[in-house]
Amino acid sequence: MRILLLGSGGREHALAWKINQSVWANPLYIAPGNPGTARCGKNVSLDITDFDAIKKFCVSEKIEMIVVGPEEPLVKGLYDYFKADEELEKIYFIGPSKKGAQLEGSKAFAKAFMQRHGIPTAAYREFDASNFEEGVHYVKEHSLPVVLKADGLAAGKGVVICQTSVEAVSEFELMIQNEKFGEASRKVVVEEFLDGIELSVFVITDGKNYLLLPEAKDYKRIGEGDKGLNTGGMGAVSPVPFATPGFMYKVEERIIKPTIGGLNKEAIDYKGFLFFGLISVKGEPYVIEYNCRMGDPETEVVMPRLETDLVGLLVAATQQELDTVKLRVDERSAVTVMVVSRGYPSAYEKGFEVTGLDKSDDKDSFIFQAGTKEEDGKVVTNGGRVLCVTAYGRNIEDASEKSLDILDQIDFEGIYYRTDIGYEFKSTLLGNR
Ligand SMILES: Nc1ncnc2c1ncn2[C@@H]1O[C@H](COP(=O)(O)OP(=O)(O)O)[C@@H](O)[C@H]1O
Ligand SMILES: [Mg+2]
Repeated sequence: MRILLLGSGGREHALAWKINQSVWANPLYIAPGNPGTARCGKNVSLDITDFDAIKKFCVSEKIEMIVVGPEEPLVKGLYDYFKADEELEKIYFIGPSKKGAQLEGSKAFAKAFMQRHGIPTAAYREFDASNFEEGVHYVKEHSLPVVLKADGLAAGKGVVICQTSVEAVSEFELMIQNEKFGEASRKVVVEEFLDGIELSVFVITDGKNYLLLPEAKDYKRIGEGDKGLNTGGMGAVSPVPFATPGFMYKVEERIIKPTIGGLNKEAIDYKGFLFFGLISVKGEPYVIEYNCRMGDPETEVVMPRLETDLVGLLVAATQQELDTVKLRVDERSAVTVMVVSRGYPSAYEKGFEVTGLDKSDDKDSFIFQAGTKEEDGKVVTNGGRVLCVTAYGRNIEDASEKSLDILDQIDFEGIYYRTDIGYEFKSTLLGNR
């Protein structure tokens, strides 16, 4: 099967690595990819939001399946573009329709969807310029802390948790009146703060059936002990010790089944990955958000734990036959540690040579590249998040130590990573569920 994968991050390297293991993937193209994905297939230089260029490539290379890594092309309607074109409509498309992608593309859409289907989530109201004054009043009276969310895509920066009413009102005004996050914050969701511990749950769905992938927990803050600025993600672990069978039963019954049932009832085309950002409040799961694709860096621990052939699963999803497939999951723990450039998530430099990449690939650990590029035969840094190292272990502690051992051999100017990924699960028996 001739496959095109869109994206260029660590997530796409992990997906390309997994797809490339399938006997069905031949050839695999990655657009635009990175030096890591080039080892799993052929990189092609394409702008992933230039739909006409994607079409041209798919037609000329006779692509049979397209897998979309990041959210942007999905929210912009790439699925609908394919389905409306007679040269493209038969291509197996992994990713939701524009409507389905609204689960991520509009926080207000997602909240209303959850409300329609009785899915547990924080209580909320939505506001824009038309009910701005009412919004100010609502925000002022709201219990603290209060959560303000820009409705649209804001590259992970559109959520502000306010500790005082004064801060909340001023933030609310900035978002709506000054378009702090551009068009994305013309509408704002104001919601109740939930106090708990977060985790990420993923499914592959065909719009009717779903398969539960291994769950993961990611670490968003730049500093050890979850201190400092928010980032795209500094590491992840899987499995998550508190995601016990009892907890996951609640997640499936109260959240996943009503979500897939809702997609089906509302006739929303959705064949692909669906990410549930959850929070456990005293053992009860609530949805913080949906994403219409896999997470990064969670994919870098989820794919290594998936034993089943991914291409087979994806074909079954496009045929709405996921009820005929079973997943096999590696029992071991997996930990990934993200390596970033000094200064990230604020300003950082690029172009430093990365050394030690060749030494470490073995069957128990992998280097997934993210912000890298090739220059004169060398791999150099090309982004804030540069690469991550995933390792398996008997438990989280063991996997994390292996990751860090491999990281000892990798170097570039300004290298930084957290050494405490999975810290709250170390030295506990729970680590080996
Ligand atoms: N209702 C809430 N209660 C507590 N924390 C929240 C709430 N909503 C969001 N957060 C925090 O803010 C982070 C970002 O919010 P999220 O809805 O996932 O937006 P995005 O990922 O698009 O920035 C969450 O991971 C969580 O830590
Ligand atoms: Mg989030």
